[in-house]
Amino acid sequence: MPTSDNVREKFLKFFKEKKHAIIPSASLIPENDPTVLFTTAGMHPLVPFLLGEQHPSGKRLANFQKCVRTVDIDEVGDRWHLTFFEMLGNWSLGDYFKKEAIEWSHEFLTKKKWLGFDSERIHVSCFEGDKDAPKDAEAAKVWQSLGIPSERIHFYSKKENWWGPAGQTGPCGPDTEMFYDTKKISHKGECGPWCSCGRFVEVWNDVFMQYNKTAEGKFIPLKQKNVDTGMGLERVAAVIDGLDSVFETDLMVGAFNKVKELGNQKLVEKNMNSVRIITDHLRAAAFILGDEVGIVPSNVDQGYVVRRLIRRSIRHARLVGIEGHFTSEVAGEVVKRFQGIYPELRKSRERIFSELDREEAKFLNTIHKGLSLAQKEISALEKEAKTVFPTKAAFDLYQSFGFPIEMTEEIVREKGFKLNKEDFFKKLAEHQELSRKATEKKFKGGLADTQSKTIRMHTATHLLHAALRKVLGEHVAQKGSNITTERLRFDFSHPEKVPEEKLREVEALVNEKVREGLSVKMEVMSPQQAKKDGAIGLFASKYGEKVKVYTVFDQKTGKFFSKEICGGPHVNNTKEVGKFRIVKEEGISAGVRRIKAVVE
Ligand code: ALA
Repeated sequence: MPTSDNVREKFLKFFKEKKHAIIPSASLIPENDPTVLFTTAGMHPLVPFLLGEQHPSGKRLANFQKCVRTVDIDEVGDRWHLTFFEMLGNWSLGDYFKKEAIEWSHEFLTKKKWLGFDSERIHVSCFEGDKDAPKDAEAAKVWQSLGIPSERIHFYSKKENWWGPAGQTGPCGPDTEMFYDTKKISHKGECGPWCSCGRFVEVWNDVFMQYNKTAEGKFIPLKQKNVDTGMGLERVAAVIDGLDSVFETDLMVGAFNKVKELGNQKLVEKNMNSVRIITDHLRAAAFILGDEVGIVPSNVDQGYVVRRLIRRSIRHARLVGIEGHFTSEVAGEVVKRFQGIYPELRKSRERIFSELDREEAKFLNTIHKGLSLAQKEISALEKEAKTVFPTKAAFDLYQSFGFPIEMTEEIVREKGFKLNKEDFFKKLAEHQELSRKATEKKFKGGLADTQSKTIRMHTATHLLHAALRKVLGEHVAQKGSNITTERLRFDFSHPEKVPEEKLREVEALVNEKVREGLSVKMEVMSPQQAKKDGAIGLFASKYGEKVKVYTVFDQKTGKFFSKEICGGPHVNNTKEVGKFRIVKEEGISAGVRRIKAVVE
């Protein structure tokens, strides 16, 4: 069995033995959190439960979760950083805390039966303390009790040893990170877990979520103290197999070798960073395109990120001598490696390849001209001894040649020049008549900030779903859902445009249910029972052993109006939803319609 599959299996087995329920990997696209584009950690889909909602599977959970992080994108190209990665995590929702979490981490890492790392090679870091929270002596003491001497316990500031909140407010706390010393020393002078030379590989992070950060920036102790951990599967696999980078692990080597094979050998050796960037980016792109939600390359949100990843990999491909179409060939290796673990990749393989081919064809038409324009501008800067790349040229590259601004920035930076991104966004905003404020707002905040508004819209989504099925027919099934603070968006199967009068009928039905003040109740049951009771659900294959079912109960008829498998949270009474209004209906692909609606 490949090392990484073995680690996944062992991890789940270990935590099952410690009485954890194994929950499925959630979608890469957060379902009801408008403030982030991707699931960046295993804790992300669990935020409501970290804040006190009851989880249907209990207080001890574990899983492996597909994640995308774009904050580290500039570091991709080195040996350890990735945009897409798998995170192994275990959680305590108000159950065990520091002692058990650390002891179990140590046991799993070092016991022969599990990963069997040499305990002598493990370094850890703990929070050093500041005005918001004291030094985490408690965590350090547990490490000492496990035989980690103080020389291998390092104390760092909030920048390194604090996690969360996911947005501006919400659950957060000090963490303790575990590093493996590869003993591969490549430089003179001091070295430690803080050094970026790559000798120390961070493998696991245990977060102790004991504070709630308020909008005023205060850290208030949480009533429910949680543990949130994350172990990077690619890094652990590399350490176990004694490899020099995550790219050589069984998780990545197929795609990595394919890129090398397609390139020119000399250029491949010279530009290994580019080979790694291409491998990482196309793996991430394949997973994003292959997600159940159905993202396609575009100029907004997740679509823009996937466009950026694909186009950046096309540019780097030129640096290693790959000229023609290649992206779907690399993605083929990704699908081959992961379809057994993530069946959604098998289901959407054709879509992944066709979207990659289409995006590649689009960009190949213009990349050559764009690169010449960029070079011309750079030569002019060199001649005139200027330092800042003209915004107009960056804008032309974006607008006419499809260069994501981050790509232009990278090209400019490689030549030692600067680019004024702020200016670029100003120009773009003027161009699109977009208010910068609106754009910024979208990226601020966290699930906790916007909870009451999004909870109302979440319940409105269930009412809409049920109303559509009543008005249009039972063939209506949810294809996607997304909620921002401004609106809800609901995608569903229906073969044709919904006529205006039908839309009004749906809207009126939802508002009737709001006016009636129906109660919304939550029950925990098995997915089988939920199906039997008539609940509708989204990704049936992904449910754990227990699910939450939300029912909107109509006392008048004695029947339920809506019953859905859903993580919640929801309002208690439909009255809280407020007035519901459909603002738009459109087709988004064959047989799939989209409704945007607001609550007032
Ligand atoms: N949420 C923590 C992390 O991502 C475990 O590092």
